[in-house]
Amino acid sequence: MSDADKQKEIDRVSGVETTGHEWDGLKELNNPAPRWWLWVFLLCCIWAVGYWVVYPAWPTLSGHTGGKFGWTQYSQLKSSQAEITGRRIAYLDKMNGLALADIKKSQDLYEFARAGGAVAFKENCAACHGTGAQGNAVRGYPNLNDDDWLWGGDLDAIYKTIRVGVNSGHDDQRGTQMPSFGRDGLLTSSQISDVAKYVAELHKGDAAAITEAHTRGAKVFAENCAACHGPSGEGSTEMGAPRLNDQIWLWGGDEKSIHNTVANAHLGVMPMWEHRLDDDTVKMLAIYVHSLGGGK
Ligand code: HEC
Ligand code: HEC
Repeated sequence: MSDADKQKEIDRVSGVETTGHEWDGLKELNNPAPRWWLWVFLLCCIWAVGYWVVYPAWPTLSGHTGGKFGWTQYSQLKSSQAEITGRRIAYLDKMNGLALADIKKSQDLYEFARAGGAVAFKENCAACHGTGAQGNAVRGYPNLNDDDWLWGGDLDAIYKTIRVGVNSGHDDQRGTQMPSFGRDGLLTSSQISDVAKYVAELHKGDAAAITEAHTRGAKVFAENCAACHGPSGEGSTEMGAPRLNDQIWLWGGDEKSIHNTVANAHLGVMPMWEHRLDDDTVKMLAIYVHSLGGGK
């Protein structure tokens, strides 16, 4: 059969001419495309031509056709960045010169500061304090989510700690001075064992077993430690002396860890941020840390 003959063949069931294409006995009918489809196709063609005219479309030898609208991804990015910066500046302007307590009172500013603080925290603080601010109990980095504060947990105290740091070399630094009772020969090794036992049992309060070592330890504590850590181990935010009668520890709370701490004091270093971050960022960080759950 010639090609022309095949084309003229009419399908018996539908009465439609076939195209002459056949696969294993299946023949293709020569139906015209539906009208709606043609219209959509035509509209798409017109749309495409319009698109070429107004948007960048075709490559040319020196680059590409620019389009009547002059649109580029770069210009779009620039305008959305300008909008964000504009909003940021408006908030920063409002924040400027406001006391932390006033920022906290304004719902808008507070949310803005908290979000900004969260970002700055991930960038600057998470390396030591952890991304969730949970701290690191092996290296003396405090958990910032709890309400146990070395230096005070109200907004102004937190702000100051971040601004000046601890043992940081800042003129106005928060400095710590826990003596090394073992290394410097201030207490004998058995006195240190006694006081370590006593301190490890402090959180039990009246329920602690009053052994001879415990009683001796209590005496060593009253004479050597209470001045900074308080008579019942409640700590002092003025000295940055941690509370010892709870179960939150910077350097570990078992008898052996406490023994080590008393023999060789570890002094934590928290960098100052005053000259590294601008004051707005330090404020936002204080608000963020305060909001973590332990703020007073
Ligand atoms: C190099 C590690 C390091 C970095 C980085 C660091 N910190 Fe600290 N931070 C410490 C240490 C160590 C202490 C505990 C100091 C002490 O023993 O008194 C501390 C203490 C604090 C305290 C006081 C907690 C309390 O209980 O009073 C706050 C608040 C704090 N950091 C916030 C921050 C913020 C906010 C940042 C980021 C801008 C930051 N830290 C970055 C190591 C770090
Ligand atoms: C001059 C004040 C001062 C005196 C005296 C002092 N401490 Fe401290 N102690 C501190 C400070 C400040 C820290 C926090 C050190 C740091 O992490 O920077 C500390 C930390 C500790 C810690 C670690 C707490 C933790 O959470 O891991 C223990 C335990 C401790 N002291 C026990 C004692 C005992 C026991 C004595 C008495 C034998 C004593 N201290 C005397 C100031 C003092």
